[in-house]
Amino acid sequence: MCGIVGYLGEKNPKTVIIDGLKKLEYRGYDSAGVAIIHNGKTKRIRAQGKLKALEEKVLNEDFNGHVGIGHTRWATHGAPNERNAHPHQVGEVSLVHNGIIENYLEIKAELIKEGAVISSDTDSELVAHLIWKELQKNQNLLLSVQIVLKKIIGAFSIVALWEKSPNELVAFKDGPPLIVGLSKDTEKSEFFVVSDVQAALVHTNRFVYLNDREVVHIKDKAVNYYNADGATLKKEITVLNWTADMVEKMGYRHFMLKELYEQPRSVAAAIAPYIDTDTHAVKFNDQGKSFNSETIFKSIERVIFVACGTSFYASMIGKYLIEQICRVPVDTDIASEFRYRRPVIPKNSLVISVSQSGETADTLAAVRLAKEQGAQVLSITNVAQSSIDREADAHMYMNSGVEIGVASTKAFTSTLALLNVLALQISKARGSLSPVSEKEYVQNLLTIPSQIEVVLAYDKYFSEAAKELQKYKGFLYLGRGVNYPIALEGALKLKELAYMHAEGYAAGEMKHGPLALIDESMAIVVVAPSDELLDKTVSNLQEAKARGGKIISIGTGENKALKDMSEYYLSLPGSLWTTNPIIAVVPLQLMAYHLADSLGYDVDQPRNLAKSVTVE
Ligand code: F6R
Repeated sequence: MCGIVGYLGEKNPKTVIIDGLKKLEYRGYDSAGVAIIHNGKTKRIRAQGKLKALEEKVLNEDFNGHVGIGHTRWATHGAPNERNAHPHQVGEVSLVHNGIIENYLEIKAELIKEGAVISSDTDSELVAHLIWKELQKNQNLLLSVQIVLKKIIGAFSIVALWEKSPNELVAFKDGPPLIVGLSKDTEKSEFFVVSDVQAALVHTNRFVYLNDREVVHIKDKAVNYYNADGATLKKEITVLNWTADMVEKMGYRHFMLKELYEQPRSVAAAIAPYIDTDTHAVKFNDQGKSFNSETIFKSIERVIFVACGTSFYASMIGKYLIEQICRVPVDTDIASEFRYRRPVIPKNSLVISVSQSGETADTLAAVRLAKEQGAQVLSITNVAQSSIDREADAHMYMNSGVEIGVASTKAFTSTLALLNVLALQISKARGSLSPVSEKEYVQNLLTIPSQIEVVLAYDKYFSEAAKELQKYKGFLYLGRGVNYPIALEGALKLKELAYMHAEGYAAGEMKHGPLALIDESMAIVVVAPSDELLDKTVSNLQEAKARGGKIISIGTGENKALKDMSEYYLSLPGSLWTTNPIIAVVPLQLMAYHLADSLGYDVDQPRNLAKSVTVE
């Protein structure tokens, strides 16, 4: 979603803000802007399109102030053009905003009645009007913001600047993330207010995460935090161990490619805290404060997953794993459905949220709903201290390092590895996992990083095949059992990166409709490992092939039957059914990457998409 960078300090705000915005580029946006104090006045520069356009516009501009705000916009209200770009300025106030103001129509009508001149189509500008209105009366930025905060409804984070007070920033959050960065050198005072720590990681690793309805006031060399009623808050400083080089491409053409190649390492890092490599046993490594997983897992009667997109597909695999290994019933819900369908959450349910960013608005709302109804929430996330992580009772971390590519890759495979661990933990806690099975599962899991290495060798294969694959008008992805969600994930990757039509289906569903789509221009991508469902999948493929469909298959080892019927056949190393999806998804990620790249699309920032969806 929108990216925010605010800065107050001795460095050149233009450089800090533009460099910070560059680090947020991956989140996707359609316009950008800065407002920085110069000679006691606000100098505001905005541009439509990529950040490069803004960079060119500010290149020869001087700013002699020490405070400024910057923004990359992902349009929600109003077209993506310069007039709607942030910062918005009204009188002496400028602000940047991420999120939505739900009561904007009411506010707009009131402002127009009072004679305000509205110069954009955004809801954000209205907040600047409200603050300016108060400021003229009380000459106090903090107070004005606190008053306005009570009048606006929605999900938002905002940073405001007042040109008359050039050593001051006020920010508040009620929804999308907002984080305050404090100088690394505790003797010095410089401050960052960012929507994502990556924007300030080159300068500091000391951060304070704002909770909803909290205000931060930075003035001169002091920083103070308040709740919405104005009471002072004491906030904890989190020192992150992420470094700036984690957000570089490190020689790869794209972040996505780098992240694809990091998967052996990230999967190993995800499972490491939970595996005893000497005894090949799973460990309970509780990172929640009041959550004893062994006790909770023993007594749960139901598991409910909530997640969106790729994280939802990972959850679907979690259902197969937990139901089959632990015999505990599992529901999977798309978070945006869950939150509005008045779900029944039976007593002794464990709600598991899966979210790479830990900020997805619908997943966060689902977690809150589950907690309100008394459920314990276990969050699986990549970003420690993200909103979802902070609200959950217990925590598992993907440990993937920063994921920049909009299309999730390494977070997905790390989640699948964690779900394997979780299924084993639940089964062990309930006494249903024999030591022999535990050892077999764990040993298998430990081989996965090196098996991914083997599969990554398909990179060259796909880069060569990409041009040829462009000729198909559509792609049908098929899988059965635990590989059905992998078919869904493969199709999603192709859609979002290569903008080609792709559908994921359970292979057994072909006769119930999708077979009608098959002709010579349709490619059928099938995940068909050598398991007990293989013969059934092969007969589904025969039906598709007889109707002209071209088959791209992913099987285990040398599978002659599958190979003979396929245009392309990829052989995966043998693995247990529990871990096969982790290696099977890698060729599908590579295929989507190379197809998109060969078509000349921006792989890291697909059109219309944002990395972290912090609004509904
Ligand atoms: C697709 C993709 C998205 C995310 C979804 C949820 O490649 O990345 O579908 O999986 O937006 O995001 P998180 O996991 O951050 O909650």
